[in-house]
Amino acid sequence: MKNFDVAIDGPSGAGKSSLARRCAAELGLLYVDTGAIYRTVGLAARRLGLDCKDEQAVAALLPELEIGMGYENGEQRMFLNGEDVSREIRMPEISMCASDVSAHAVVRDFLMEMQRKLARENMVIMDGRDIGTVVLPDAKLKIYLTASAEARAERRMKELLAKGVETGFDEVLQDILRRDEQDMNREVAPLRQAEDAVRVDTTELDFDQSFELLCSIIRQRMEEEA
Ligand code: DC
Repeated sequence: MKNFDVAIDGPSGAGKSSLARRCAAELGLLYVDTGAIYRTVGLAARRLGLDCKDEQAVAALLPELEIGMGYENGEQRMFLNGEDVSREIRMPEISMCASDVSAHAVVRDFLMEMQRKLARENMVIMDGRDIGTVVLPDAKLKIYLTASAEARAERRMKELLAKGVETGFDEVLQDILRRDEQDMNREVAPLRQAEDAVRVDTTELDFDQSFELLCSIIRQRMEEEA
């Protein structure tokens, strides 16, 4: 089969990354986490002490950046000027900065070709905020994956705790609500459901149920396209 690609969009904490990664492994597709790419730009800006909301300052930084992506044992790794920053970009303080830099058109343009090239050269499940609406408008399947803010905060908190990052529920919920607000209301490529996307709400589903549902939707479309 040629050129089969799946675009998954949705708000933070909806389980896009963990579900998409597992479905990709199950179905033999390449998983691309585009949030990790925005996080790498956010990390670079923060390391230099820049105000991530300052478009001009962030724009000036872009030509200096060498953003690399690779796979190790099936895991996507991110490199910033040659350094593996895959762990560091997951720190909660980088999340808001990633959201800030992602609101700048200059950043989105800078990262567009990298994402499209990955989809041209591989059969991908790509997740993000604007994959079905902007990056891959012709994706064979578009999914809008969502869940209530409370369910997402609960899951995110457990994920962070498992990584040894101690935080409270309210703090995580506030962070999620702030990012939803910012990602959905920005001028450039805001998060929204593509008209032809299948909406999957996992509020009432556990991980395995969500995985089964998502995988079955993708498998069915792959069979139709084969
Ligand atoms: O998926 P994530 O939480 O790791 O993404 C971090 C931020 O990057 C998120 O708040 C919005 C932004 N982002 C985006 O604007 N477009 C994408 N395709 C992916 C992420």
